[in-house]
Amino acid sequence: MYIGADYYPEHWPKERWATDAKLMKEAGFNIVRMAEFAWAKMEPYEGQYDFSWLDEAIEILADNGVKTILGTPTGCMPAWVALKYPEVIAVDKTGHKTPYGNRKDNCSTSLSYRLLGQKIVRAMAEHFGHNDNVIGWQTDNELGGPNCYCDTCKLAWQEWLEEKYKTIDELNERWGTVFWSHTYRDFNQVPLPKRDSSNPSLELDYCRFHSRQVVSFQKEHIDILKEICKDKFITHNFMGFYDNIDYYALAENLDFVSWDYYYNGSWGNTGSWKNRFSRYNSGAAANDLMRSLKNKNFWIMENSAGPLGWECYGRNLRPGEFKHMSLQNAAHGADGQIWFRWRTSRFGTEQYWHGILGHDGLPGRRYNEAAATGAILQKLSPYINGAETIAKVAIMLSYEDRWALKIQKNSNNFDYEKHIMKYYKAFSKLGVDVDFVRPTQDLSKYKLVIMPTVYIVTEEIASNVKSFVEDGGVLISTFRTGVKDSCNVPHALTLPGLLREITGIKIEEYEAIDPDNLYEVEMDNSTFTAEILSDWIIPESAKVLANYTDKDLSDYATLTVNNFGQGRAYYVGTSFVEEEAYDKLIELALKGSGIKTFGPLPEGVEITTRINYDYSCYFIINHTDEITSVEVPAGLELISGKEVSGVFNLGPRDVIVVKHQIM
Ligand code: GAL
Repeated sequence: MYIGADYYPEHWPKERWATDAKLMKEAGFNIVRMAEFAWAKMEPYEGQYDFSWLDEAIEILADNGVKTILGTPTGCMPAWVALKYPEVIAVDKTGHKTPYGNRKDNCSTSLSYRLLGQKIVRAMAEHFGHNDNVIGWQTDNELGGPNCYCDTCKLAWQEWLEEKYKTIDELNERWGTVFWSHTYRDFNQVPLPKRDSSNPSLELDYCRFHSRQVVSFQKEHIDILKEICKDKFITHNFMGFYDNIDYYALAENLDFVSWDYYYNGSWGNTGSWKNRFSRYNSGAAANDLMRSLKNKNFWIMENSAGPLGWECYGRNLRPGEFKHMSLQNAAHGADGQIWFRWRTSRFGTEQYWHGILGHDGLPGRRYNEAAATGAILQKLSPYINGAETIAKVAIMLSYEDRWALKIQKNSNNFDYEKHIMKYYKAFSKLGVDVDFVRPTQDLSKYKLVIMPTVYIVTEEIASNVKSFVEDGGVLISTFRTGVKDSCNVPHALTLPGLLREITGIKIEEYEAIDPDNLYEVEMDNSTFTAEILSDWIIPESAKVLANYTDKDLSDYATLTVNNFGQGRAYYVGTSFVEEEAYDKLIELALKGSGIKTFGPLPEGVEITTRINYDYSCYFIINHTDEITSVEVPAGLELISGKEVSGVFNLGPRDVIVVKHQIM
């Protein structure tokens, strides 16, 4: 297993490199990522390359058993690029060029930037392609923004629209440009969405366009690397629940996904730590999403190593947390882990984004904990490397929905990620593994699928869901599902539109809920509270499971279930305040599904399963600061090497990994 740190030899005197390499070796590290921000050092003047310093660093590290991943360096442009090619700088909505001086300043469409990027990537690939100590590449760094509104983007956008819609009449028709006299006579009249509250169809297409530009920018690097360095992997560092890019598309051409997981409060934001169980849950879900992008295990490319921040920093890692969090990542499918960064920088914006070593460069507690954690991961490696998560539950997540729901939130209080997490958490409390899927993805391997506000439902999505339920699947769809077509236009249908037959309900009216006047809902002899949005459901063939108690709404259902084909479809018309409402719903939905659960687990305890051939590895994590008793499956505990079974006392922030023979 590869374990290591993000390393910036260019920030330190050469004389220090051997010490760093030796310390890494002593910590058991075997990998670094380097150079993703070193363009100015590798190409100090246009066309003049200097890789000698990097060759030397790679060699010193390799002599100590540490291999290298190199980043293509386009995340930060050298000053000469910005000065000589001002057209590469991104332009914001107001028409202002982003001032040079931070990073991610570039327009992803800019031909000049693309050519300059291709040149440095090719030069690096040719130089390092035959170096066996370089085992892989990371493209750019955290691709995403900035969204650009320059004239080059405008032209590319208009060309893309023409390719997509073929005729301007078709675009006018699909977007409904008759509204407010926005009808276009030619593609060259279609603006970029520089105004707030533009046409939602135009805005959604712009999100698609921007995402596509970034994906194709990355693809140029991938193509060059694949052509020249056939035996090296290519990955990219994603950002969990980040939503500006279609991550499924960004992942498509990579060998595997990596991601940057900073969980301990950054930029001075220490308060959120109070709510740490929900943070651990979001981290678990983000890990699952990263695995799901390619349905394949992934790496952590940047892992928290200390207090994080630029001007202000957050909470430090407590004793035991390196192990605790790294094992949570492994539990969800991380097959390699790298801490950001090796040593805290003395220079630049990130002076307070702390690394394993402090500014003084001396190995201390964090170093010792990282080394001890690395040793545990290596011990687990033969059992877990390549072991799969075999989830029977999937949550649909589509970037197009996320964009459409940013363009129109429906309610000021609607938060997509929180909405998803309410469902995710109910599964997590039972130790049930979850995948994320695109709404168009084959669902046949799942037994239970959640459709949380899948706002855009096309014929393709509806028929995918229909076959899933017909064939015996259990579906849970929620409020504001099936509202829009692919152009972000509401279907001219009674809601839930194309899902009406499957769900057996109709919704003629809906509203946003006033936060000062929440509604009560009666469900199975318990009372819960509805918040944020409310669909007023009229059952057709569906059975009512919960009702609003408010006298004006008493004719409408809140929650229904419909038997359809061999399966059943639940529809949840609101968002509940209480977690228990989700617990009840998921308990109902899981009934008869054959999905194995461990729950309900004690608060703050997580169990996930990875399967390798004929055995399961159960990761049992105590996220609390107390000793917690958990019923564990019988088997060999891989960290201690002892047999365990029955009730086990897990120490504060402790993790055990139980290898359990399946047959
Ligand atoms: C990440 C980025 C790293 C580092 C870190 C702290 O987003 O990939 O390069 O900058 O944030 O700011």
